[in-house]
Amino acid sequence: MKLFGLIGFPLSHSFSEKFFSEKFEREDIEDCKYELYPLENIEDIRLLFEVNKDLKGLNVTIPYKESVIEYLDDLDDIAQKIGAINCIKIDEIQRVGYNTDYAGFRDSLKPLLKKHHTQALVLGTGGASKAVVYALQELGISTTLVSRKTGAAQLTYADINKEIIDNHTIIINCSPVGMYPDINQCPDIPYQFINSAHILYDLVYNPGKTMFLQHGEKQGATIKNGLEMLELQAEYAWEIWNQVEDEEAASGY
Ligand SMILES: NC(=O)c1ccc[n+]([C@@H]2O[C@H](COP(=O)([O-])OP(=O)(O)OC[C@H]3O[C@@H](n4cnc5c(N)ncnc54)[C@H](OP(=O)(O)O)[C@@H]3O)[C@@H](O)[C@H]2O)c1
Repeated sequence: MKLFGLIGFPLSHSFSEKFFSEKFEREDIEDCKYELYPLENIEDIRLLFEVNKDLKGLNVTIPYKESVIEYLDDLDDIAQKIGAINCIKIDEIQRVGYNTDYAGFRDSLKPLLKKHHTQALVLGTGGASKAVVYALQELGISTTLVSRKTGAAQLTYADINKEIIDNHTIIINCSPVGMYPDINQCPDIPYQFINSAHILYDLVYNPGKTMFLQHGEKQGATIKNGLEMLELQAEYAWEIWNQVEDEEAASGY
């Protein structure tokens, strides 16, 4: 039996567990099992590795996408550059960290892009924001980071005016603001300057249409939530867990 799972804390409701259990059933994958591993402290991952010798792969969620790195033997090049991981491949020799959030975001945004989408405003400076910035750079889109804290990014929310909204026709919410149960909240930006040239992309997927996306839709913008990104990052993790080494060297992760 090959074992896969998710580490994070707390793990009250897990998209990944449902996704993989359904995938195994739908695709008649009989020798695999997906488990949840809520770790109160990241050091507990040592014991997890020790006890579960059949473990082949892990997904990693909040709050361990950065702190787990020191417990791994290696990182792939892109994960190294991003500085955060959400996927671990385990074999007899080593435990290697990957970032599939970035490719999930990139591939879900791509179909929406038009020629004028050359500058993006990225709200929030956490692990997800790092993956998003890397993906945007790969797509040739320049990024301006926005933080609540002065000095932590190029802009704070108070700096955002009409000119900045006009110049940045992609706006991405990489903060948890607006996520269930706080569904009446949204990032503090001047939505009245948004128009039909804009894409508003929310990494949050619960609710499906956040207040951020509702404001964008009202202004005529193209809107997109984080569900496809979530599904793609899970599929890409599955590909990595099942890749043999020479394929891995040739892959785009
Ligand atoms: N769809 C997907 O596949 C996917 C993948 C990854 C993450 N996500 C979602 O993306 C969001 C961010 O994830 P993350 O791991 O980067 O989370 P995080 O590290 O907890 O937060 C990201 C950043 O959001 C900002 N922030 C936090 N609380 C805020 C508040 N109350 N008001 C305004 N800004 C706030 C902070 O930046 P500043 O301190 O600089 O303001 C923080 O660094 C989460 O909702 C997560 O569920 C979705």
